[in-house]
Amino acid sequence: MATTMRFGTDADLDGLWDVFKTGFGATEQRRDQWLKGLDPQRALIVDGPRGEVAAASHIRPFRQWFGGRAVPLAGFSPVAVLPEHRGAGLGRAVTAGQYADLRERGEVIAGLFPASLALYRAVGFECAGSYVHRRFPANDIARIRPARPVDVRRGTVDDVAAVHRCHASAAPGRDGTVDRSTLWWEDRLPPDLDATMLYVVDDPGAPGELVGYAIYRHGTARAPYDYSVVVSEVLSNDPDVVRALWRVVASSGSQAPDLDVIGPAEDDLFLLADHAAPDVVRSEIRWMLRLVDVPGAVAARGWPAGASGRVHLAVVDEHAPWNHGTWILEVADGEARATPGGDGTVEASIGGLSSWWAGYAPATRLARTGHLRSADRRALVTMDGLLPAAPPVLPDFY
Ligand SMILES: CC(C)(COP(=O)(O)OP(=O)(O)OC[C@H]1O[C@@H](n2cnc3c(N)ncnc32)[C@H](O)[C@@H]1OP(=O)(O)O)[C@@H](O)C(=O)NCCC(=O)NCCS
Repeated sequence: MATTMRFGTDADLDGLWDVFKTGFGATEQRRDQWLKGLDPQRALIVDGPRGEVAAASHIRPFRQWFGGRAVPLAGFSPVAVLPEHRGAGLGRAVTAGQYADLRERGEVIAGLFPASLALYRAVGFECAGSYVHRRFPANDIARIRPARPVDVRRGTVDDVAAVHRCHASAAPGRDGTVDRSTLWWEDRLPPDLDATMLYVVDDPGAPGELVGYAIYRHGTARAPYDYSVVVSEVLSNDPDVVRALWRVVASSGSQAPDLDVIGPAEDDLFLLADHAAPDVVRSEIRWMLRLVDVPGAVAARGWPAGASGRVHLAVVDEHAPWNHGTWILEVADGEARATPGGDGTVEASIGGLSSWWAGYAPATRLARTGHLRSADRRALVTMDGLLPAAPPVLPDFY
């Protein structure tokens, strides 16, 4: 089948719903909610021989924080191919086919939660962070104690806007965080708090503002218990506040012994809890990132204040030819730029460079896996010194 691609219009809504519903096993009841978040003009479509939408990718624009700066992110969500057209390269085609448009829009990075690493690695994505579902024994977490008294109160609908602001003010200090629109917040924290428990800690220095919050829901029970606790988010930059919030969230252990938590592979909880059962992981995936525009992405993120150095790169990128070639990367005073030229001391696949740029893997590690290659180990060590040591954390599945 010829792979002519085109962007969608409102006339494609039925076809897009069909391909995505089929791909993800969604029910008709979800149609309206799902279409609310869909912009057909951001859908790249391959038409099938009977006029059906045979394959499509859809972009949700976000801003993702790296080094204290919000970087325009094209979130691939979703990508799907009708069953009868699978295995012919359409999944790869509708993904890579978006890149030129993303670059034009200034979306210098793209991200996704992959169903298959191979599919997206083949078009330049690489691992950038982890997304782990754990089921902790609630009593392990309930033992966490703040060192000073913290007044945790039940939140109300009047606190919802302050929760949004609290998240937004924490974002610049947390690599990987994406800005949440009101629509995006609705799932995590419905404005009417329907079936949602909210606990908050007021900011003593700023009336109406919060220094932390915890959001959870009651989930299904494991016999013979009554319910479980499904944590949506616990967030604070104050160590005692975050401890106090976890203690409240996990305090229902007598009736709800299971605490479902989404977090990164190296969760802060391991630095807070005195005991964590070794068999808590339920599922573990990686999210992926791709630099759409190398110089744009290098300039867009913030870099650690004390880092400085220069590296000559030879970037290999067959799907975004504007990235392919030699670049001189210079980092100083929290800023960086990539300019064409240099002797290509470090050969980097676009995926390898993306994973490094995100802070997921240091250059010396990426050299072990073949994502980067260099005869000059010092160049790799220089690269390692340019980025923060901790990988980005993205708790928002899109
Ligand atoms: C995943 C999906 C988009 C792949 O579409 P496709 O057109 O068959 O993909 P391609 O032909 O371009 O395949 C590219 C690579 O993806 C990987 N891949 C494809 N289907 C896969 C599967 N079912 N399981 C694991 N890997 C798979 C393979 O590595 C394949 O390369 P290969 O054919 O050289 O082995 C399609 O199966 C689908 O719509 N699935 C349901 C929805 C979904 O999972 N979407 C992805 C969400 S991130």
